[in-house]
Amino acid sequence: MNAANDKTKQRYNRIAPYFDVLEAFLEGLFFNEWRKTLWQKVEGEHVLEVGVGTGKNFPYYPTSSRMTALDFSEKMLQQAQRKKQRLRLEVDLELMDVQNLCYADNSFDTVIGTFVFCSVPQPVKGLQELYRVCKPGGQVLLLEHVLSSRPLLAKMMNVINPLVAMSFGANINRQTVKSIKSCGFQKVILDPTSSDMVKLIQAIK
Ligand SMILES: C[S@@+](CC[C@H](N)C(=O)[O-])C[C@H]1O[C@@H](n2cnc3c(N)ncnc32)[C@H](O)[C@@H]1O
Repeated sequence: MNAANDKTKQRYNRIAPYFDVLEAFLEGLFFNEWRKTLWQKVEGEHVLEVGVGTGKNFPYYPTSSRMTALDFSEKMLQQAQRKKQRLRLEVDLELMDVQNLCYADNSFDTVIGTFVFCSVPQPVKGLQELYRVCKPGGQVLLLEHVLSSRPLLAKMMNVINPLVAMSFGANINRQTVKSIKSCGFQKVILDPTSSDMVKLIQAIK
């Protein structure tokens, strides 16, 4: 395991017990609606959620699909396990690194991740793995915060990024739309509810 992976994992292990409380304000104000919009696009028999965290997307899981979800932080996954039991949810939870998935090529109809690629140490490697395990004709759905397109704001985000990443494990200057476009998908579509810094991405393989 490399140093960047270890650091990110440790940060999420550390904040896991407080994660839901830390994000409660933004969740209620913005994230809920974006999650709802993204999960409405989910379809297919077998769905994979990457970077499941504490299981904030559990309320949106479709009952008609077989669900698998993974995270590389043991402590975040423990919180998800508790939520799974509380909600009596059917989901296979796995401890795994999205940069190195153990699934066969073309395994899932939909692969989904929310606010994950801001913290994956090698985001393009992770996105390439999503492409690999997604079935041809299937889709990858992402909800991600990204670097602003406004030059001055982008400059500020780049300057304070190391501090934010050190404190919360998340980078605020990722260019995830550009990264996913480099992975070979047939089509990459941005939902119109996307904002300058938060993107709802649908990539069709
Ligand atoms: C900001 S949290 C988001 C959690 C959840 N998706 C949500 O919407 O609340 C990012 C999550 O991605 C996980 N993560 C980061 N890098 C990862 C990797 N390489 N493999 C698997 N999980 C990863 C972290 O452990 C953390 O749980």
